Amino acid sequence: MIQIPSPGGYDKLVYEPLSDDGYTEGANIKLEDIDEEDLVTIKTYACGVNYADVCIRWGLYESAKKFVGWPITPGFEFSGQVERKGKNVKEYEIGQKVFGVSLFGGYTERIRVPKHQIFPLPDNLDRYEAAGFPTVAITAWYGMFEQARPRPGSWVLVHSAAGGVGSMLVQLAKIHGCHVVGVVGASYKVDLVKNLGCDHVIDKSKNDLWKTAESFCPKGYQVVFDANGVATLQESYNHVASGGRLVIYGFHTMLPKSSESASGAISVWQWVKMGWNYKSTPAFNPLQMTNENKSVMAFNLSFLFDQREMLKESMAQLLGWVKEGRLKVTKVTKYPLKEAGRAHKDLESGQTMGKLVLTMDEFELKMSEGGGDKN
Ligand SMILES: NC(=O)c1ccc[n+]([C@@H]2O[C@H](COP(=O)([O-])OP(=O)(O)OC[C@H]3O[C@@H](n4cnc5c(N)ncnc54)[C@H](OP(=O)(O)O)[C@@H]3O)[C@@H](O)[C@H]2O)c1
Repeated sequence: MIQIPSPGGYDKLVYEPLSDDGYTEGANIKLEDIDEEDLVTIKTYACGVNYADVCIRWGLYESAKKFVGWPITPGFEFSGQVERKGKNVKEYEIGQKVFGVSLFGGYTERIRVPKHQIFPLPDNLDRYEAAGFPTVAITAWYGMFEQARPRPGSWVLVHSAAGGVGSMLVQLAKIHGCHVVGVVGASYKVDLVKNLGCDHVIDKSKNDLWKTAESFCPKGYQVVFDANGVATLQESYNHVASGGRLVIYGFHTMLPKSSESASGAISVWQWVKMGWNYKSTPAFNPLQMTNENKSVMAFNLSFLFDQREMLKESMAQLLGWVKEGRLKVTKVTKYPLKEAGRAHKDLESGQTMGKLVLTMDEFELKMSEGGGDKN
């Protein structure tokens, strides 16, 4: 497993071997006082890497500090096979292939979670795609159907459309019958977003973002999804149509890129810059919002972990679309668990597309020569 002993750079992602029957577990097991007999122990194949994990490593992730503190094993999602189960777990067999979510603890070869947080591995997701699916898919689902609630035919603008959450938002908006404009920060990302079915892609490295956005939808967008933070928030709000919604779910442009720090630690200068970014973040005025008929919404899924009905409903709908072939994990890049630092560095570069996952393949190969099938 990977443990972060204290906030900092890539060297803080320390690999600690698990004992023969050791495991990590989700923080909610204690927080929610969950029955031991509802727990399932999973030997993992892979786990997803999310931008939130980087924020955890920096010590900037509120729920990680609140629910766990230090040391912490990051990771919100995994795939694997059931190794042990409590008496109340009738839905799964030992050895069954599953994937699931956890409130931290995912960067591990073995994890224990309550049964409601796992799902059978669907035929059309391989073990790596499945490990990288739930966090970004549920985030996009929550933003789209609980918060934004666009009508079919609405115009939706998605920033960072080639990324993990962004690529899910584009697909969900298309499934829902919306017109979708995706924004990307580099030309090589354009094709991936077009292939997701995006009606228009704005490459902001080549074109003026907002002039181009206006050319597609002069009256403004019914929904804008923004995880950039200060760099775009005000203009995102300005480009919401009357009756529309700005949905905020992240702040990545306010945080350092790996190109700015070789070690991945936040320098004094970067702290000053982050403080400045924080001070410059727009505050939306309720009177103005009322008069303009615009809403600003925000959420963080890690504070919604106890909402079991939401998890059940979202996964049922999302997996239905996966089975129909309408929803995909666009691109998966794999790293061995022990190279979590390299995965973080790549994610912090802003250059990646789709999902990054850490694999436990090397541990599995040691145990069974040949490694078995990978589906
Ligand atoms: N609220 C929630 O519950 C929740 C849940 C999951 C994720 N999130 C947030 O959703 C966002 C996307 O997460 P993800 O894991 O799917 O990552 P991702 O989208 O795969 O990667 C981040 C993307 O953001 C853009 N970017 C701009 N400035 C950046 C910077 N300084 N450092 C890194 N990337 C930068 C890059 O795309 P372009 O240059 O093409 O724009 C990059 O590809 C993050 O802000 C994350 O915190 C929120």
